[in-house]
Order: sequence, then C-alpha cells, then structure tokens
Amino acid sequence: MTIHFEMHDDIAVLAADNPPVNALGWAVRQGLLDGITRAQAEGAKAIVIYGRGRTWFAGADIREFGKPLQEPSLPGLCNLVEACKIPVIAAMHGTALGGGLEIALGCHYRIAVPTAKMGFPEVHLGLLPGAGGTQRLPRVTGYEQAISLITSGRPIGAAKALDLGLVDKVEAGEPLALGLAYARELLAQGAGPRPVSQMPAPEAIDFDAAKAAVAKKARGQLSPVVAVEAIEASSKLAFAEGLAEERRLFMSLMETDQRQGMIHAFFSERQVSKQPDLAGVSPRDINSMGVIGGGTMGAGIATAALLAGLSVVLIEMTDDGAKAAKARIASNLAGALKRGKIDQAKHDAILNEALTCATDYAALGEADLIIEAVFEDMDVKKQVFAKLDAVAKPGAILASNTSYLNLDEIATTTSRPADVIGLHFFSPAHVMKLLEVVVGAQTAPEVIASGFALGKRLGKTSVRSGVCDGFIGNRMMFTYRTCADHMVLDGATPYQIDRVLEEFGFAMGLFAVGDLAGLDIGWANRKRLAPLRDPQERVPTYADKLCEAGHYGQKTGRGYYIYEGRAKVENPDVMPLVEAERLELGITPRSFSDAEILRRYMAAMVNEAAKIVGEGIARRPLDVDMVSLMGYGFPRYNGGPLKWADLQGLPALLDDIKSYAKEDAFFWTPAPLLEQLVAQGRTFDDLNKEAAQ
Ligand code: 3HC
Ligand code: NAI
Repeated sequence: MTIHFEMHDDIAVLAADNPPVNALGWAVRQGLLDGITRAQAEGAKAIVIYGRGRTWFAGADIREFGKPLQEPSLPGLCNLVEACKIPVIAAMHGTALGGGLEIALGCHYRIAVPTAKMGFPEVHLGLLPGAGGTQRLPRVTGYEQAISLITSGRPIGAAKALDLGLVDKVEAGEPLALGLAYARELLAQGAGPRPVSQMPAPEAIDFDAAKAAVAKKARGQLSPVVAVEAIEASSKLAFAEGLAEERRLFMSLMETDQRQGMIHAFFSERQVSKQPDLAGVSPRDINSMGVIGGGTMGAGIATAALLAGLSVVLIEMTDDGAKAAKARIASNLAGALKRGKIDQAKHDAILNEALTCATDYAALGEADLIIEAVFEDMDVKKQVFAKLDAVAKPGAILASNTSYLNLDEIATTTSRPADVIGLHFFSPAHVMKLLEVVVGAQTAPEVIASGFALGKRLGKTSVRSGVCDGFIGNRMMFTYRTCADHMVLDGATPYQIDRVLEEFGFAMGLFAVGDLAGLDIGWANRKRLAPLRDPQERVPTYADKLCEAGHYGQKTGRGYYIYEGRAKVENPDVMPLVEAERLELGITPRSFSDAEILRRYMAAMVNEAAKIVGEGIARRPLDVDMVSLMGYGFPRYNGGPLKWADLQGLPALLDDIKSYAKEDAFFWTPAPLLEQLVAQGRTFDDLNKEAAQ
C-alpha cells in the first residue's frame, strides 16, 4: 500500500507512503487515482494529499524511465486530480520536485511548510517536465519565472514559491494538520475547484531570444532548450494541445543519449561512495585536522575543513609561509562570506578560533587526521611523513594529497602504514566536489571508512582509487593529454583541439585547463617520468619548451593563450615551437577533421579508463565516470567516458583503437577489459550492474 485513504470527517486524505522519497511509481499513481475516485464516490467535500515520512513526492520514479509505460500515466493523473469536482489541496513538505510539483499544480490549492523546496530538476535528467509542468507553471508564475525554474532545474524555497504564487500559503506545522485546517478554511469560504489549466496563458514573450539565451548557457545540452519550446507551446496552443506538444517533446528527449547519460550520472553519484566491503566498519572520529603546506592546495583543504566545522592546525616552513597561508585561507573565507555560505560571526570564529597557522610540527599532536600538501617530490613527502610519525598521536590518520606519487612508498617511512591514506583533493579544494580516496596496500578498513566519512562531511563526492601513477583522474588525463600532443605534432593545433572539446561539452579545452592549473605542474611531472619512459614511447617536447621560455599559463599571463584580464587570445609563440619539433622529427603535418580529433581523444580516454577498471584501480566503470564528471569537466550529459563508450558502441571503438595502433602500437595498446567486453558482447554498464548486485 503506497497511498493510504482516510476520512477525517468529510475530508478525504490521501497519504503517500513510498519511502524514501515518495517517488511516483506505478503503484503510487494507481493509488492516487483510486483515492481520488473513492473520495468523490464516498461524498467527501475536499481532498488533502500529503506525504508521510520525509517528503512530498520527489518526482516520477526515475527507475521506470526507458521501460514501457504502465497506466495511469503521470500527465493523465495530473489531469484527473485537476478535474476533480471537489477541492483538492496539496500539503507539501520536504521536496516537491518534477512530477511531484506537477501533481501539486494539478491540485486546486497548495500549502507548504517553510522548509519545503520546490523545483523542476528534469533538465538535469536530460528531460523536461512532462506531466503538464510546462503548461501549468507559466499560467501561475508568468513566462520569465517559469523559464528560469524549468531550465535551471534549481529548486526554490517555500517563501519564494509564495512570492511567485506557486503556493497559496506557507505555515509551520505538520503537513496533515496544515492541509486539513486549510481544507476546512476553504470549505468555510465556499471555495470550489480552481483548475490551473483554465487560467489564461500569460502574454507571450520573445521566445526566440529566450531560446538563444538558454542555448548559450546549456553548452550543448538539449533539454533546457527543448523545455523552452514546450513552454512556448502554452502561448500558442489551447491547454490540451499544449499538453500533447509537451508530451511529444518529452518523449523525444526520452529517446536521447543525453537522457541516458544524465540518468547514469544521477544514479552513479549515489552509488559511487557505497562501500559494501566496509559494511559495519566504523570510521574514526575526526574533529581536528592538521594540514602541512599552506600553498594552493593546503589552504584550500584547510578552508574546506574549517567551513565544515573542523578545527585546523596548518604547518608551513617559515613564519612568512605561515602568514601567507593564513592570508590565502582568509581570502577563501571572505569569498564564502560574500556568497552567503557563512555569516560574519562564523567567519570571525573560524579565522580567530578554529584556525592556527604555525611552523612547529609539535602543534599537530592532537590532530585526528593530518594531511600533507607539500611540494610534489617523493623525498620531501618522505621527510614529512617521517616527522608526522614522530609527532602524531596514536590512531591519527596520516594522509597525502599527492597527485601522482606512490602512496605505498610514502607509507614505508612511517611505523604505521595502516593509518596512511591518500586524500586527493582538486583545485580549488574548497570548491571542487571530487575527492579521490586513495587506498594503499596496507590502509586499514576503518581508515578508508574515515576517508569517506570526511569526504561526506566536507560535501565531496568521494571515489575510491587504488595506487598507480596519477590514480584514476590524473592517470587518464596524462593519457588523453599525450594523445592530444600527438595530434598537435601530426598537424592539429591546440586551439582546434580546445574548440572541438568545448563543442563536445567540456567546460574548458584541455590546453586552457593546463593554463589554469599551471603548466609547470605537468612539466615537473614529465621530468619525473623521463627516466621511467619506455624507449618505444613517443614523447612530444614542445610543451616543455613553452615552460622553459617561462610560459606557465595564467599565473604568468602566458601559456597556450595570452591572458589580458578575463579575455584570452592564442599565444603566437606556441605554434613555432610545434613547427620546429615537426621539422626536427621529419613530420609532414596533415589536417585533422574535428570528428577525428574527438574520436581519437575519446578513444584514448576510454582505453585508459578500461585499463584502470581492468587493473582494479577503479572498482567499477561508474567510478571512472564520476571522477571525469566531478573533477575534469566532462560533460554530464554524456554520462562520463565509459557511459559514452557504451552509447557509442564498444566494438566500433575497439576497431578504431586497433586501427590507430597501426601507427603507434605502444600508445594504442587495446585495454584487455575492452577486448574482453567486446568479445562477450557486454558493456561497461553490465559491469556496474553486476557490482550493484
Ligand atoms: N526516482 C527513483 N528513485 C529516486 C528518486 C526518483 N525520483 N529520487 C531519489 N531516488 C532514490 C535515490 O536513488 C536513492 O536511492 P538509494 O538509497 O538506493 O541510493 C534514494 O532515493 C534517496 O535519494 P538521495 O540519496 O538522493 O536522498 P537525498 O535526501 O540526498 O535527496 C532528493 C532527496 C532531493 C529527492 C534527491 O533524491 C533528488 O533530487 N531526487 C531526484 C528528483 C528528481 O529529479 N525528480 C524529477 C524526476 S523526473 C520527473 O518527475 C518527470 C516528470 O516531469 C514527468
Ligand atoms: P604549492 O607549491 O602551492 O604549495 C606547497 C606548499 O608547501 C608551499 O607553501 C610550501 O612552502 C609548503 N611546504 C613545502 N615543504 C614543506 C614542509 N616540509 N613543511 C611545511 N610546508 C612545506 O603546491 P600545491 O599546488 O598546493 O600542491 C601541493 C600538493 O598537492 C602536491 O603534492 C600537488 O601534487 C598536490 N595537488 C596539487 C593540485 C593543484 O592543482 N595544484 C591538485 C591536487 C593535488
């Protein structure tokens, strides 16, 4: 029973009971239909709908998407609610999202508690509101607000909803009691049904301009633009025809790869931090944190910890270094204050009480977890860990933020390798959502659980990685960067590649990202790897020459691009370096189509990702996808590299890799896992599903 029917005097109550979020699956829809019919048959004067548990309906049941529809459909149900001959009242708490808000709009009156949130997140699933939302919402809020709510997918609070007329009343209390009181009030006033569909559509706006503005922001994502088309239909068509047009557009989006990619992202985000092997393992308490090194990363990590309510002791090498670290953190906190993430009192308390910047490691004696973010150099890291071993209290967790280095080797310098873990944050660490939890050969289960618990507390999406050079994300990036460098040497330009990647949907092109992160980072890494390179490896050097010339990217004003304020133009020093290297190697440049650039780049990424999964560095394909989405600007609507690969078809991708291997067998060695999946006719998603069982 997912909908309970109760009579409260002459008011019928339909109580939704489908934990955890009252999703509108088939049984709930059928229950609502039965309840509405029964209420009228039993002579009720009004109907109150509310959700038991933590929320009103949080939307359609996403797990049903892509399967044959079972009647009653959600749009039909919304119409049925609206056509009810007695007033229907929505009493909302928790989250009224998507189809949930559409049911509420089908109701005649809406009341919400002050903490309720309402919104249309469908665009984030590659869809649009498909149960009348695009036709009813504008009739209530006008076009501008409807377009903003539907195309942003951002929920609003009850106060804003009241402002917009989306709810009639906001009152604190228990939803059932509020709904009943409101129903009685309405009956006393003689109020009858008030169908939104009978309200006139608002005056039309310039929809072409609205679509253009939304398309610009959407960066290749289809659903927000198609959503505006559906909203536009409400200005041109009668309500019923508008509904039909909305349905047509909804079903067209349902057929897209983008819908599949975004729903994969939705479920993977929730799946990724689940650790079945750690069931029953309790994390250690972490309330105070030590941070060694207060540069870019150390200051960001300290800020993230402070904002989450931890106390932080930060250690730098000199007093000046400690002062500079404190200034960096203060600047991060000022940003958080400006954006309303903290108030002045919290800001002051953090800066004056929760943070200590010092130079003496002895100050770390009480820290529950100590993370180092010192220079990326094995000797320096080892020295730091040896010192930590001496000062850290028993049971303290010793973490490294290393980007590439071997965690197990670092751990050998301590007497407690079971307490050592990698916590790889991304820059800026107080903003970026990704955390790679790097598990060493000897890391104890409760230390892993603690890493995940800390990630959760800091608001991060944590992904487990094994130890290898660069872990999941940087190892993949190293490979696709190499692929891009090969294409540049063979005739493409960094600017063509960046344009292709941005058109694919990456937030930034690869070379622009390098400029942002600092080209010296990659340079230092290439120097570290130089002695380890296989003689068969094709190693481009133009990027090193750019660094040798002092071009480190945004921090020096010049890299692949020249930066003046926020504008960037191509750096004319780059292509001569490339041309000189082509000449030296005897390469006659050829032209690359945009399609070939994308295909090779993605093939390199997928192939490396498949090796990472095959070697057990990532536990499942979805872990790799989440790293790419959360940390490397991979377009969410493509779901991640391995979801993208599934949608493209693995056999053709493997064929392409094999054809590229004819030019460079070393670089393009096919991943054994990819070969195996193709041979078995399976997909990466099959592996995800098997892991979930
Ligand atoms: N359908 C199916 N399962 C859902 C779901 C939905 N709409 N929403 C959440 N769930 C599941 C989650 O997958 C998770 O399952 P798990 O425990 O097995 O991992 C469980 O419910 C709890 O979800 P969260 O961990 O996300 O819980 P939170 O409390 O953090 O967040 C929430 C709650 C804000 C409701 C969040 O789950 C959410 O944003 N859900 C999606 C809402 C949404 O997109 N609704 C629109 C659906 S599309 C639609 O309605 C189409 C219509 O217009 C026709
Ligand atoms: P950075 O150069 O900005 O900061 C390093 C800081 O460590 C400096 O302030 C230095 O004074 C301090 N330091 C060095 N040795 C020390 C010691 N023995 N004791 C105390 N302080 C010491 O470097 P950044 O960029 O912050 O990187 C730090 C670490 O984080 C590196 O391992 C890097 O690979 C990793 N990382 C960097 C990312 C980035 O985007 N910059 C992203 C993720 C990880």
